[in-house]
Amino acid sequence: MKILMVCLGNICRSPMAEGVMRYTLLQKGINGVEVDSCGTSAYHSGEAPDVRAQKECKHRGVDISYQRSRTFSIADFKKFDKIYTMDVSNFEHIMTLAQNAQEKGKVKMIMNEAYPSEDIDVPDPYYGGEKGFQNVFDMLVIATEAIAAKHC
Ligand code: 4NP
Repeated sequence: MKILMVCLGNICRSPMAEGVMRYTLLQKGINGVEVDSCGTSAYHSGEAPDVRAQKECKHRGVDISYQRSRTFSIADFKKFDKIYTMDVSNFEHIMTLAQNAQEKGKVKMIMNEAYPSEDIDVPDPYYGGEKGFQNVFDMLVIATEAIAAKHC
């Protein structure tokens, strides 16, 4: 199983989603799952995660400091089995890039794994304070536990 987490900048939500997914898999003793993340934009390409995202993750026992931002590539449709977007805007962007039904079928909003069909966004914490990052982490624990239980 290969999982790709997607947000806009790949410096806040999707690096946290990658880190929390790895952590959830480790906690459950699940091996053999590959996890990566990327952004729909190239604004922050090559950058480490936002320091607020790193800090919240570190506080909760998850190291994301080694990650570097990259942009989504259409080759990712072939490489990954599941492509999870953080919000509806990322979802719509990735869906416009999908070439066929098989590729479209890989793309899902991440919170729909825990709350099917509710289309809940993981809110962009970039312009807010630390609380936003705490909330993102909490939401991602719920989502990644649902992913691990259903698909891993
Ligand atoms: P992310 O957050 O999509 O969760 O990584 C953002 C990071 C940067 C920007 C927007 C959202 N930006 O506009 O630079």
